[in-house]
This record gives sequence, structure tokens and C-alpha cells, in this order.
Amino acid sequence: MHFDFAKLDRQQRYKLLGATVVPRPIAWVSTLNADGTLNAAPFSFFNVFGEAPAVVGFSILHRSASDLKDTGQNIRMQQEFVVNLVSDENLEQMNISAIEFPPEIDEFTEAGLIPAPSEHIKTPRIAQSRVAFECRLMQIIPLGDMRSLVLGEVLAMHVDDEAVLDAERAWIDTDKLHLVGRMHASAYVRTSDIVDLPRIPVEDWTLIDGPGYKP
Ligand SMILES: Cc1cc2nc3c(=O)[nH]c(=O)nc-3n(C[C@H](O)[C@H](O)[C@H](O)COP(=O)(O)O)c2cc1C
Repeated sequence: MHFDFAKLDRQQRYKLLGATVVPRPIAWVSTLNADGTLNAAPFSFFNVFGEAPAVVGFSILHRSASDLKDTGQNIRMQQEFVVNLVSDENLEQMNISAIEFPPEIDEFTEAGLIPAPSEHIKTPRIAQSRVAFECRLMQIIPLGDMRSLVLGEVLAMHVDDEAVLDAERAWIDTDKLHLVGRMHASAYVRTSDIVDLPRIPVEDWTLIDGPGYKP
């Protein structure tokens, strides 16, 4: 089946992309309202884009033309946020934080999240999350009129001690983080089904049987 995006509406495009670009990591973003109210929400249009500077990004589907959800409004105001990652033991609380609460509701309290102080910014991380990135806002880029891409520079990251093999060498035991990804709709996937595939040095790529991949 061929899908021509010029003939598809927003919802159809979203469904096609969301059902196929999987699994997606989830940014569980904590932010601070102007009056100090804590906010948390998951965003699965999320990834990492660089290391020097270290850049993460996620995109917000506006509720109306200028509305950036509470997360985006807070980031615009405070110029900072924390991206916490989601482990399987956090799934239920992550889902509660996705409820469309009004801005004055403290979503840490609603979801039973414990704030842990960040070192470089005012916004706390989620103590129950095994990985958290303290970010300073770099840019909010409009993607059309109903979505915005939020890019943040990672100033520091926190990793659960249990998963740190060697801090000096920056070795992390990823399996111990029990991270989850988002599949289609309300389906999630654990990252425990590992396939190990070492890279092939070009000098090892012998063309004994002629060029090309032979299954
Ligand atoms: C797993 C998951 C992933 C989500 N990803 C996104 C996303 O990428 N972009 C988005 O705008 N909303 C996404 N949502 C919906 C927001 O989390 C939801 O609108 C939330 O209430 C926003 O909260 P806020 O108003 O406190 O910022 C997602 C929800 C879930 C459960």
C-alpha cells in the first residue's frame, strides 16, 4: 500500500507514523510553573541529536494554535526542563502524568512522584526515574502551526548508581535501567529483547563471492 501524504489529513499521518516509528523512547518531562507548581508529562516524539553540545528534543502537539501544553508554557517561561526516562516500574505513574490536568494541579503529587533537586537548574528531576537529563532550553521550533519541537542542551545527567559500571569511563549497564519504549497507541515494550550485532570493519568485508549481501 502506498500512502501519499499530500492526500492524508493530520490524524491519518499521525496514526501511520505513530504505528510504524517504533519503539520510541519516552521523555518524561518535568517542569516548573511560575508559581512553583510541579508538572510532569510524557512525550514520545523524542530523541537525542548531539553530544557536543549534547542535545535532546521532543515535540509538542498544540491543543490550540498557540497553546504549547503546560510543559511547553513552563519551558518557555523558565527556559529549562528535565527529561526523565521511563523504566518499566514507572509506567503506571507516567500514564497518570499524561492526564490533561489543568496547569494549577501539581502532577508530581497526583502521580506520586518524588522531586529530587537538580544541580544546574531549579526544576527538579523525578526521583523514581533511573536516568534524568537537566536541560537548558536551546530553541522552540514551530513545525507547521500545530506542533513545536523543543530542543534542550543537556547540562548534566543523573544515572542510578546501580547501573553505573565505571563512572570514569562513562560505562553504563543499560540493561539495569529497565527502560521502556512506546509502541502504537497504548502499547509499550521492554528493552530486554537484545540482539547483539558487532559493527564490521571495512577490511573484514571480503568480497570472495562477488559484491553484495548474501543471506
Ligand atoms: C506515552 C505517551 C507519549 C506521549 N507523547 C506525546 C508527544 O510526543 N507529544 C505530545 O504533544 N503529547 C504527547 N503525549 C500526551 C501528553 O503527555 C499529554 O497531553 C499531557 O497531558 C501533557 O501534559 P502537560 O499539559 O502537563 O504538558 C503522550 C502521552 C503518552 C501517554
